[in-house]
Amino acid sequence: MDFQLTEEHLMIQKAARDFAVTELLPGVIERDEKQQYPAEQIKKLGQLGFLGMMVDPKYGGAGLDTISYVLAMEEISKIDASTSVCMSVNNSLVCWGLETFGSEEQKQQYLVPLAKGEITGAFLLSEPEAGSDATSQRTQAEDKGDYYLLNGTKNWITNGNSASVYIVIAQTYPEKGSKGINALIIEKNTPGITIGAKENKLGIRGSDTHSVMFQDVKVPKANRIGEDGFGFKFAMKTLGGGRIGIASQALGIASGAYELALKYAKQRKAFGKEISQHQAIQFKLADMATRIEASRLLCFKAAMDKDQHKDYTLSGSMAKVFSSETAMWVTTEAVQVHGGYGYVKEYHVERLMRDAKITQIYEGTSEVQRIVISRSILS
Ligand code: CAA
Repeated sequence: MDFQLTEEHLMIQKAARDFAVTELLPGVIERDEKQQYPAEQIKKLGQLGFLGMMVDPKYGGAGLDTISYVLAMEEISKIDASTSVCMSVNNSLVCWGLETFGSEEQKQQYLVPLAKGEITGAFLLSEPEAGSDATSQRTQAEDKGDYYLLNGTKNWITNGNSASVYIVIAQTYPEKGSKGINALIIEKNTPGITIGAKENKLGIRGSDTHSVMFQDVKVPKANRIGEDGFGFKFAMKTLGGGRIGIASQALGIASGAYELALKYAKQRKAFGKEISQHQAIQFKLADMATRIEASRLLCFKAAMDKDQHKDYTLSGSMAKVFSSETAMWVTTEAVQVHGGYGYVKEYHVERLMRDAKITQIYEGTSEVQRIVISRSILS
């Protein structure tokens, strides 16, 4: 395996790093505190091509590979995971699914503005009673001839209020289980849609998380993605790529916290020397660096599998579970290295620790990733 980064990869990494430092860092503490959605920053990210990174340029995307996406996600997430989750959802869960399975008309109408970052999208799968158990969809898409009538509630929707386009997973034939589910494209301003209040979250507080209610919403049949009943497989395949995005987010959160801990350990003095000269701190830094490197390699492996058109279900889940657990561990240790300063907002590591937790929960909990991995190795 050759993970030698190309000139183009290095350029993208630098562009993402520069953007994160100049555009995201200045207001990140305030946005976290006020739960403020980074609207201006997302707009600029879109103009730079970071919202449709892997989409073919003929549909308005940047035409880059998945390694580039991992690199950009890591850099943005080092500074602001609230922004990177919006970026990940738009790239992986919305654009990829539309480009891979959408009709030409759907691509022209929805993918082009989404990939250009003119608008953003959201992926509506989770429900009050269907998170990990994704086949138990209660939202109904009743077949009414030339349209579906949609009723139900979706929960924890990233970009729930800011998105202009939703991809909604709903049940059409409950008796058929996972084969009775459809994926529908719905414009947010369609009559019958109500957006719930913004969730007051532990972390990624700037991201725009809402419940979305549908009451007798009419969706034209032309807005169904793929064949009748393809919705569950669509969701699973789309989430497979999404997990590479969230694994890279977790990698970025971990490496951001590690860089801060390393810097602090070289500055702070205790017992007559820099704390980095104490073995207790050195061992922490060594373990952080090792786990982060392992996460990065798993992310690259999953990205490479995807770029080489191999099955990336297993490698994506391995990257996600390992990177998210690494992020939680590294950020907690980074707070510890900072001592009391780590517990206050100005030093950033407490926010990264709060942000890390969600990477073990969304786009499939750590338990779900272990289900996917064990099924794959036992099959
Ligand atoms: N790729 C393709 N097809 C797949 C698949 C995959 N990765 N996983 C399952 N399928 C197919 C199966 O082959 C099966 O098809 P057949 O009947 O033709 O064989 C069908 O789908 C049903 O599969 P299962 O019976 O295995 O399904 P299951 O109910 O046991 O589910 C699961 C398995 C892995 C637990 C799945 O439900 C899952 O991934 N759940 C987690 C969902 C999730 O990630 N939710 C997060 C919400 S999105 C989010 O967080 C976005 C955000 O805002 C950040």
